[in-house]
Amino acid sequence: MRFTNSYKDKIKEYVEKNKLTYKIDTMGCQMNENDSNKYAGILESMGFKKELDEKKANLILFNTCCVRENAENTLFGRLGFLKNRRIREENVYIVVVGCMTQQKHILDKIKISYPFVDVVLGTNAMSIFPKKLYDAILNHKKSIEYIEVGNEIEEEVPIIYDDKYKASVSIIYGCNNFCSYCIVPYVRGRERSRAPEDIINDIKSLAKKGYKEIMLLGQNVNSYGNDFKNKKYTFAMLLKEIEKIDGIEIIRFMSPHPKDFSDDVIEVIKQSKKIARQIHLPLQSGSTHILKEMNRKYTKEQYMKLVDKLKKIPDVSFSTDIIVGFPNESEEDFIETLDVVKKVGFDQIYMFIYSKRTGTRAANIDDKVSASTKVERLERLKKLYEEILPTLNKKMIGKEYNVLVEGKSKNNKELYTGRTSQNKVVIFKADDKAVGKIKKIKIESEHLWYLKGKIID
Ligand code: SAH
Ligand code: SF4
Ligand code: F3S
Repeated sequence: MRFTNSYKDKIKEYVEKNKLTYKIDTMGCQMNENDSNKYAGILESMGFKKELDEKKANLILFNTCCVRENAENTLFGRLGFLKNRRIREENVYIVVVGCMTQQKHILDKIKISYPFVDVVLGTNAMSIFPKKLYDAILNHKKSIEYIEVGNEIEEEVPIIYDDKYKASVSIIYGCNNFCSYCIVPYVRGRERSRAPEDIINDIKSLAKKGYKEIMLLGQNVNSYGNDFKNKKYTFAMLLKEIEKIDGIEIIRFMSPHPKDFSDDVIEVIKQSKKIARQIHLPLQSGSTHILKEMNRKYTKEQYMKLVDKLKKIPDVSFSTDIIVGFPNESEEDFIETLDVVKKVGFDQIYMFIYSKRTGTRAANIDDKVSASTKVERLERLKKLYEEILPTLNKKMIGKEYNVLVEGKSKNNKELYTGRTSQNKVVIFKADDKAVGKIKKIKIESEHLWYLKGKIID
């Protein structure tokens, strides 16, 4: 479905006359970031201007996440805080979209406790956003209603990225995996792959605008194409096509599911000059027993075998997601996780304490593990990770890496920053002319969370 906005011109005059501004607050993963870029694109096409200060913005849009529980309290706290402004001031609007609002109980809570919210939409409803906004602003009509996640893919939605050189592109929406702890399949619907030509056209036009690095996004990128009728187009083929696009120098993707990581994708990475030498390979747990309970469909041994295959790619690095304290995770199970962490040597670990999500299978398990044990395990995992990291970093000292210069370092304004192909942050001396260019950098020292180096070419 092609996105059209027939309300654009009807509302623009009002928005521009009143100099309306917007602020987007994004929670959750990179897919949500990407959706927020599209909401920004839609709002700007309707005349809204970006405002960084929430207190000054006319329209505040919350793009929500519900993968873990605590986000709910954050959202409701923020809405409560905005109530006075919304009711007293003229031309203040509140929009709530995203995964959390795809749950009926959240919608009910907004209706009852926060009825001043103007528009509420779920995860796959960008095409109706312009109408809802138009109704809210010009007809004073609120819209808080439940919309099922459809199967439609919305193409050609205007998009505005925060960065000038790096952009993310969604290639597949939804998830079919139903890991037993995870709410995502319920709020994002089933897998829907975008047509290859739509993806390629988007990336070509990004390349024309000067973008150098592309991050391909999906809940499970390597099941890309499985939903096509003839199943003849695969993730490996898509990667090969993107490799051919002039101007794009670095290709990343996340997340692949270990169970779907096929040999042909490994082969494409090996042959590629552009695909980053960094694989994000969500582990979740190192215990085969817990993995089974999680419905991950691989064992510890299968995961390790895949890692060994991937380690044949020169200079490859790994990042991962780990859940600590899945219901009834034993000390032995947890030690298996630590064992995998030691053996793989992850450069980056996103670690989470298990959070019960109503509606998922794991939510029904009677959990005997105490909260304090879970916190203690998370601390032990963190400690192990910080012990391993310097050893991994030290291996990079003296080596040369191509780095896209992203701009000035936030913490050290004298220096510039970028990332190696392994996704390691490097800081170095440079000047503004280097920004947006790929430079060869020799690594000189490691500082746990970043490396220092110098430009040699
Ligand atoms: N599709 C991706 C990531 C989805 S959500 C994948 O499969 O890897 C991002 C991460 O949040 C997950 O990898 C998992 O580690 C974490 N997560 C998901 N549900 C969770 C829950 N109920 N409690 C704690 N962490 C969770
Ligand atoms: Fe959730 Fe599993 Fe799907 Fe990832 S693969 S989004 S963890 S159900
Ligand atoms: Fe959260 Fe939705 Fe992403 S639940 S992690 S924002 S897909």
